[in-house]
Amino acid sequence: MYNLLQGKRGIITGALNDMSIAWKVAQKAVAEGAEIVLTNTPVSIRLGTINRLAEETGSIVLPADATSVNDLESLVDGAMAHFGGKFDFVLHSIGMSPNIRKGIPYENLNYEYFHKTVDISAMSFHKLLQVLYQKDALRAGGSVVALTYIAGDRAMPGYGDMADAKAMLQSITRNFGVIMGRERQVRVNTVSQSPTLTTAGQGIAGMGSMIDYVDNVSPLGNASADDCADYILTLFSDLTRKVTMQNLYNDGGYSSILPYPNQILS
Ligand code: NAI
Repeated sequence: MYNLLQGKRGIITGALNDMSIAWKVAQKAVAEGAEIVLTNTPVSIRLGTINRLAEETGSIVLPADATSVNDLESLVDGAMAHFGGKFDFVLHSIGMSPNIRKGIPYENLNYEYFHKTVDISAMSFHKLLQVLYQKDALRAGGSVVALTYIAGDRAMPGYGDMADAKAMLQSITRNFGVIMGRERQVRVNTVSQSPTLTTAGQGIAGMGSMIDYVDNVSPLGNASADDCADYILTLFSDLTRKVTMQNLYNDGGYSSILPYPNQILS
């Protein structure tokens, strides 16, 4: 324990169950001294186990569908009321693709589903940032982090329309980062995480063998959800005050490797 987040308060989205990356962030943020508000959709609150996390971390759960600006406004108002004022950090840990869920390949996308993918997985981040900005909800020195995947930067059609949503999420990070930085002294970054076996992760076809492959290629091996949470805490802390508008890899080095067959290495 480093007391990295002593006196800090924030919102953590996306904790569905104890496999969720957000779940680990919530546990570790509180262990580092933070006070948190948890949120998820009403359906995920019902079907998942977030209330157990709330009990464990002494936090409240405020329901919000991140595609609804009204819900996000109530969430931010509710958090400010709970904390008694502005707060310091927000985690966006939200992603879903109906096309992936239904096993629809990239060359045969259903466009109604595609809209949903983009709304849930990328536009929700703009909506969240816009509500935070308009309500002036974050303290100077604050930090907003969203989770992304390398398919947002490199071609990976197996990741379906989520690849496009992640590219958009990373672009929103840069553009809103300018405004949040200049006007509010708030950082906005994405963390690009190794493939991880969570409920969302399990939706990707061939995820198991992909995880093993990437684990072998990455010099440090894959980063776990716990590793990801540790990294995110540094981004919420005061130790990274000048880091903003970045896509930061937490992937054991995978993003910098040019993979080639093992026989060439030996
Ligand atoms: P997860 O399934 O535990 O979390 C996804 C969360 O999104 C769930 O809690 C779900 O309720 C929430 N969500 C879905 N629709 C929503 C909506 N309309 N409003 C509010 N919340 C909504 O899975 P995981 O892996 O922890 O996902 C968290 C983030 O990490 C996602 O952005 C995902 O794309 C990203 N990520 C995951 C990787 C993996 O391999 N698992 C790798 C890189 C990034």
